[in-house]
Amino acid sequence: MNPLTNPFSPGAGNQPPELAGRDELLRKVEVLLARVKAGRSEQSMFMVGLRGVGKTVLLNRVREMAESQGYQALLIEAHESKPLPLLLLPPLRQTLFALDRMQNVSQKVKRGLRVLRSFIGAVKVKVGEAEFGLDIDPETGSADSGDLEADLAELFVAVGEAAADRGTAVAIIVDELQYMTEVEMSALIMAIHKVSQRSLPLVLIGAGLPQLVGLAGKSKSYAERLFTYPEVGALTLQDSSSALQGPVVSQGVTYTPEALAEVFRVTQGYPYFLQEWGYQSWNLARQSPIDLALIQQTTVASTARLDQSFFRVRFDRLTPREKDYLSALAELGTGNQRSGGVAERLGVKVQTIAPLRSSLIKKGMIYSPAHGDTAFTVPLFDQFMLRTMPDGPRKAGS
Ligand SMILES: Nc1ncnc2c1ncn2[C@@H]1O[C@H](COP(=O)(O)OP(=O)(O)O)[C@@H](O)[C@H]1O
Ligand SMILES: [Mg+2]
Repeated sequence: MNPLTNPFSPGAGNQPPELAGRDELLRKVEVLLARVKAGRSEQSMFMVGLRGVGKTVLLNRVREMAESQGYQALLIEAHESKPLPLLLLPPLRQTLFALDRMQNVSQKVKRGLRVLRSFIGAVKVKVGEAEFGLDIDPETGSADSGDLEADLAELFVAVGEAAADRGTAVAIIVDELQYMTEVEMSALIMAIHKVSQRSLPLVLIGAGLPQLVGLAGKSKSYAERLFTYPEVGALTLQDSSSALQGPVVSQGVTYTPEALAEVFRVTQGYPYFLQEWGYQSWNLARQSPIDLALIQQTTVASTARLDQSFFRVRFDRLTPREKDYLSALAELGTGNQRSGGVAERLGVKVQTIAPLRSSLIKKGMIYSPAHGDTAFTVPLFDQFMLRTMPDGPRKAGS
């Protein structure tokens, strides 16, 4: 088919031509946003899922939905190396400016800006205060204790009060939440706690890898009550099929049922791979319908492409010992594995490789689905490891 009109869009955060299988979750978001805006208390939301399931795409939709409900929405991406206050300040400042520009003067909004100014001073961000362009006196005694937990809560409350005074609401949307430190996560949870106690129109919607649930629970035990953790996972056969079929019918192209079943079998319904298979099959196909034989050809091409990009970039970030760990994990098979089994394969004690395991969790490569268990955060990464390291891990002492 003509590559120019290829509808598929493999790539991190790329809007898919059809957002399949997420209607129920988006309806929940719709209700959550509407309730918070109306000043009704509601649990904030952390979406949890593996790499490539569509979390970033969903958060972009959440932002659009919030804006169309009249929210001021801001979206940030947490980083291993960038502190939370640094990420939050520029968009929060923008949000407060936007609130400030509405109608006449609001004392609550002015106060919000002063509290933000205090907060900037207190976190001592090394970017120069001028960069934030806040030509305003700080609200001394508010959000300036230097204790992130207390200060962020005061800042969020002040922003929430400013929004309420304007009859609007604020949505803080955070991607890659698993990269947050425990202190930052605690502060975020505490801030949301304070905001919801006061029924202020400020909501936090985030997404991250499965380790996020443990991080939130460890940071604050009451996190469980403040948040829901909807799981974003692989699509069903039916939803996978609409993700492929939907975007091509308008161009007079179809997939045969056998082709769709085969794509589902090899991709296991993971959205990133569906886009990849859709993209390659479109380019390879000479005619419609796209059939089983063509999908088998696609699988060869798509696998090679993923091995050079999606999987490769992650592999290249690993130390040799980390590669060994993942190679051993892959050899144990697909799904959850006992951490002890990995150690055994590497010929060492579990305690010896505990630091290795922690660093892989921090890097977002693996997670612990249950105590003592380990699994990949990237779907099909086990098969990639077997292809890339066919001889398996080096044993201790070798
Ligand atoms: N519901 C969906 N249906 C079809 N394709 C999707 C869906 N959600 C995401 N995708 C596609 O999957 C890929 C990964 O999406 P992304 O949001 O980056 O995942 P994540 O943030 O979970 O790693 C993108 O190419 C995107 O177009
Ligand atoms: Mg993402």
